[in-house]
Amino acid sequence: MGKLINLDNLNLANKKVFLRVDFNVPIVNGEVTDELRIQAAEPTIRYLLDKDCAIILASHLGRPEGKPVESLSLKPIAGILSEILDRRVDFIDDCIGEKVQKKTDELIGGEILLLENLRFHAGEEANDPKFARQLANLAQIYVDDAFAAIHRNHASIVGVAQLLPHAAGKLVEEEYQTLTKLLEDPPKPFSAVIGGAKVSTKIDVLDNLIDKVDSLVIGGAMANTFLTSLGHNMADSVVEQDCLTQAKEIYQKAVSGGLEVILPSDFLVAKEISQNVDTHLAELDEIKPGEKALDLGPKSSQQIAKVVDKSHSIFWNGTLGYAEIAKFATASLDLAHVMIASEAETVIGGGDTAAFVDQYNLHSKFGFVSTGGGASLELLAGKKLPGIEMLKS
Ligand code: 3PG
Repeated sequence: MGKLINLDNLNLANKKVFLRVDFNVPIVNGEVTDELRIQAAEPTIRYLLDKDCAIILASHLGRPEGKPVESLSLKPIAGILSEILDRRVDFIDDCIGEKVQKKTDELIGGEILLLENLRFHAGEEANDPKFARQLANLAQIYVDDAFAAIHRNHASIVGVAQLLPHAAGKLVEEEYQTLTKLLEDPPKPFSAVIGGAKVSTKIDVLDNLIDKVDSLVIGGAMANTFLTSLGHNMADSVVEQDCLTQAKEIYQKAVSGGLEVILPSDFLVAKEISQNVDTHLAELDEIKPGEKALDLGPKSSQQIAKVVDKSHSIFWNGTLGYAEIAKFATASLDLAHVMIASEAETVIGGGDTAAFVDQYNLHSKFGFVSTGGGASLELLAGKKLPGIEMLKS
């Protein structure tokens, strides 16, 4: 496990710190609907405040494609952060330029300033050296606590780190240590439960995990693709036709490597995806034309529970059914509850799965819930992440 430069490695007393965070949170009708990523920045902010640092917070929000988009302003987040910290958090409506430079020059220890969305400038995603220099000029030290964006080769992740003394924040350190431990030294038996809609987004992680886990459970719409590739009839279920060959190869590689691979054996099916639709249970190969598998059935859940019971560490990414609709969330909830009841180390790989456990107020009951969606999957796929590479000693 490569070691990251951490906050204790830097002389931070009274310094001006550029703190890259990931405040890319869901906003519905102007309201932040999930504050977890904002809360996750608190330990690093408090650590820096204890060292009397002046803190310049920078983040992206959404994908504004290099120009200002009012609905993607970070302004509302300053108020939320201020409540979390019980402390004043100022906001400035740009992240570079004279006005920003002046404001940050005047910032003193203990003060916090949140910059406007970095992606309002095309230089951010292009990792433009000039843009990175303008950001770096605002501070003396760079700290990266934006784990969810650490797989992006962007100016505020890579470019600024090249220009200033730098370290990983508390969140990045914890995420990195927890996820790399799963890959390198997991308590055995180690199981992975991979669900969600698309095989195509998970090929790399599946491919890497096959060599690490003792059991692999495949659920969600992804399982339809695997089962179809093995010759089963999934009727009108969502199947990624262009991933059939890859799915079959992964399955065969896993099985020939001696892995226990669990694919669903029964389903909750319906004619359409809606809360009010009629549903019934169907065994594998008994789904009728016009019907779709939208959740796993109780037999599959029992099989998965057995895997969880014998595991000492479990990684879960991707819901097992169409869990946005409560009617199709049963198998995912069953899994959440058996994981919570087990004594294994439980790790949730961010994104939709983190949002799901949060929706049911189960977040705090897991050993670790990653704030990164794409970032945690890329790390578990064994890829080198640009931001992580910058922070290695
Ligand atoms: C995320 O939500 O996964 C991160 O904030 C990264 O966002 P991006 O996919 O727009 O780069």
